Amino acid sequence: MNVMTSPVVAPVLQNNGLRIALSDGESHYFNYHWLRDNCPSSFNSSTRERSFDIFHLETAPKAKTAEVTGDVLEITWEAEDHVTSFPLSWLEAYKIPRRRPDPADLSREAWYGDHYPDVPRFSQPELLGDPALRAKWIEAMLVEGFTIITDMPNSNEGLTETAEMIGQVRPTFFGDYFDVKTHINPTNTAYTASALELHTDTPAEEHAPGMQFLHCRANTVKGGYSLYADGVAVANDFRTRYPEGFKLLAETKVPFFCEHDTYDMRSRQTVIELDQYGDVSGLTISQHMLDISDLDQELLDSWYPAFCRFGKMLQEEKYMMTFLMKAGECMVFDNHRIVHGRAAYTAESGERYLRGCYTDRAEMRSTYRALVSEGRFK
Ligand SMILES: [Fe+2]
Repeated sequence: MNVMTSPVVAPVLQNNGLRIALSDGESHYFNYHWLRDNCPSSFNSSTRERSFDIFHLETAPKAKTAEVTGDVLEITWEAEDHVTSFPLSWLEAYKIPRRRPDPADLSREAWYGDHYPDVPRFSQPELLGDPALRAKWIEAMLVEGFTIITDMPNSNEGLTETAEMIGQVRPTFFGDYFDVKTHINPTNTAYTASALELHTDTPAEEHAPGMQFLHCRANTVKGGYSLYADGVAVANDFRTRYPEGFKLLAETKVPFFCEHDTYDMRSRQTVIELDQYGDVSGLTISQHMLDISDLDQELLDSWYPAFCRFGKMLQEEKYMMTFLMKAGECMVFDNHRIVHGRAAYTAESGERYLRGCYTDRAEMRSTYRALVSEGRFK
């Protein structure tokens, strides 16, 4: 049999870049700035950062010669005494413009009011000792947005070490940690024994915190059931049922506030948050921190009915997961995606103490990638 091998086609040099035939037999274009900037020698293997500074080139990079030898493209440069060698396999990854594949970019799975028995649960001491289990925990958070950590130590440190498994504790303007108990002079509805409607936390911050930890240290009061709903489930159904209303809530920024003697925090957010694909990734919702609207009053003719429809849907039993938190458990959830609240309780009937903090969503994805992928430089 006569095996034909296709001859290596020499790269074609053009003004601003070169064309090269790759494994699909097609000719692909690469820009000279890009090739020079991303020359393998541009990166420091120790810092894993780019050590080459393209601003220091006196003239725009242009290839003098480009040749394929074996599996390597070798480029010499016109105004620089430098040779760049690219494995062809490396160029293959960039021949078609697309976002870098992201292991943390997982599809969300909506859940409903009957989800409580199926909530992913992880034991805190086991998580501490097992990086593979930590990856599973974060994966559950990325996909479902809500998990329960069990066997928590009954200490402040227990919460810190749990949070630090996925990121740094991220302060809000209330500080690094918050304690939910009944206060004598409350500055926040959470610190009373009243019911707390479904909400996301600190919507008045420009970047509201991402992941919320609620460590239940005691819960012996009468009442005080926890309420959680998946904002993605509700907003996706809302999108199908009321597409016009969905568009209004996803596109109109509305003011939120949080104001007392020493602070006056303000932000503008859309009620429904979309990700890079236009899929629902979260909500910003809080009746007690929605500011007096300054939107056009005629726009409010359509915005308010959409908002109220959505708010009513959030409270439908179909979506509402209701349960009693137990001491020793820590709820960990996406503060944008998962709305939470609680039923009223009788303050004198026992003790109720939750201690909470936040970490960042992006940092959690970073931790996940580091746990599950090879990265670019490992
Ligand atoms: Fe809250």
